[in-house]
Amino acid sequence: MTTQQKALLLKDKQGRFAIEAIPIPTPGANELLVKIESAALNPVDWKVPEYGIIREDYPVILGYDAAGTVEEVGPEVQGFAKGDKVFYQAGPTNEYGAFQQYALAKANVTAKLPGNITFDEATSIPSGITTATLGLFTHNINLDGAELYPFWEEGGRGKYSGRPIVIFGGSSCVGQFTIQVAKLSGFSPIITTASLRNADMLKELGATHVLDRNLSTDALSEEIAKITSKPLEIVYDAISLPVTQNAAFDITAPGGYLVLVLSEAIDPAKKASQPKHVIVHLGATGPGYEASNSVWTTLTELVEEGVIQPMRVQILSGGLAGILEGLDLLKKDKVSAAKLVVHPQETA
Ligand SMILES: NC(=O)c1ccc[n+]([C@@H]2O[C@H](COP(=O)([O-])OP(=O)(O)OC[C@H]3O[C@@H](n4cnc5c(N)ncnc54)[C@H](OP(=O)(O)O)[C@@H]3O)[C@@H](O)[C@H]2O)c1
Repeated sequence: MTTQQKALLLKDKQGRFAIEAIPIPTPGANELLVKIESAALNPVDWKVPEYGIIREDYPVILGYDAAGTVEEVGPEVQGFAKGDKVFYQAGPTNEYGAFQQYALAKANVTAKLPGNITFDEATSIPSGITTATLGLFTHNINLDGAELYPFWEEGGRGKYSGRPIVIFGGSSCVGQFTIQVAKLSGFSPIITTASLRNADMLKELGATHVLDRNLSTDALSEEIAKITSKPLEIVYDAISLPVTQNAAFDITAPGGYLVLVLSEAIDPAKKASQPKHVIVHLGATGPGYEASNSVWTTLTELVEEGVIQPMRVQILSGGLAGILEGLDLLKKDKVSAAKLVVHPQETA
């Protein structure tokens, strides 16, 4: 096997990207070496170069979602063999980054590809499912979250039957997986905000009501009151801009949980006056990376069963070089209800 590969390197903090040849890493204990066929883009991949946040290990290899074929199995790995098709939570450091042709994968955040999805579709799943589940299902794990009992554990499916949930940004990647895990947990109604052109697709995933993302907080509260009179004890803000955070905080019931996916931006006076649990959950890029492993034990079966569905994908041409165009589209908010994907092996 060749010892060199191509990778997209972010050369310096807030610096430029370059495609360069670098060595292929060797898997250590509980690791796999994967030949990456599909890598997906996330908002964090443009925020790191734009703001110089999160990463310090320059030159940096970004990319938090990958799918491909196992090339080599490290010591102590169980359940995987050379040639297996897999998808996995990539990042958070260079040797695990998805924007290269070969990378290491931690076996506990890797799943075999079921026969009903492609590499491209599979790569839309990891960060979305990780972020959705880690913010909500923290019963008995040492992580800040909404303390729900996992739907993938015995007795978990349908456990929250009849309880409402509101998800801001249902058509985002995080939102689409949050809708699906809420459905598996039995939540009903599942109310989400999005552009209304995406309503049918979100209802197929499990949303019961799709409200226009441009409604004012008052109008949103009025619409929700027409749907349910129960207290909103679980609210998930998959967008977490200041405007959505403050609206989400307002509608969360006293004592309820509001899950955020970006740093908190709620008006401090408002927050101090209302007893609500605000969870700032930076899972996929933070300490939750390792804690996410338990959903991975059943992910192949959940996807095979069709109860966790991948996103619609948009393929960018040019292999790793196509990432730059994709990051620009994400930054300009020009991607709706879809995951941008590249094929690293097609890099010139
Ligand atoms: N904490 C973590 O571990 C973690 C992990 C992943 C992502 N994130 C963060 O979570 C956020 C979402 O990431 P993502 O990958 O899910 O994003 P994404 O898929 O790129 O989001 C695009 C979608 O956002 C929707 N949207 C944008 N503004 C909205 C608003 N004001 N109200 C409702 N929907 C809105 C759009 O919906 P329409 O097209 O329907 O208008 C669009 O479909 C990002 O800020 C990202 O950095 C955090």
